Amino acid sequence: MKIALGCDHGGFEHKNAIKDHLKQSGFEVLDFGIYENVSVDYPDIASKVCQSIQKGECQLGILVCGTGIGMSLAANKFKGIRAAALSEHFSAKYTRLHNNSNVLCLGGRVIGVGTALELVDLFVNTEFEGGRHQTRIDKISEIENK
Ligand code: RB5
Repeated sequence: MKIALGCDHGGFEHKNAIKDHLKQSGFEVLDFGIYENVSVDYPDIASKVCQSIQKGECQLGILVCGTGIGMSLAANKFKGIRAAALSEHFSAKYTRLHNNSNVLCLGGRVIGVGTALELVDLFVNTEFEGGRHQTRIDKISEIENK
């Protein structure tokens, strides 16, 4: 599985730690920046990560900004992207099991790096359950296509 990563200046340290952690765990990673800690506009980075998933280049994405919220707002504008901003373990697991979320959004100013890595592990290692949850996701797609 290949995972697209991106952050703004609110999530720079977290993104780099997540990158190292995923690589050590055997995942392929595509890093869409930022590559030095300068102020940027989070929608620009969210766009790169989401387009990579839309193209099929990466299967999952992880975005980090100050709160995770701006990244999730931008990411959820992309067709086929289901981005979840969260900060605790239950949601990290269930957003894969039930929502088949393909982008995890974290807040570098909300959680520490250790928690971020645990949430990433849950997110990338949990499979979608399908079944009745697929029906609900199909309804999200119908809304998206209106
Ligand atoms: C940047 O200061 C901050 O607004 C951004 O990282 C993010 O938290 C937006 O939701």
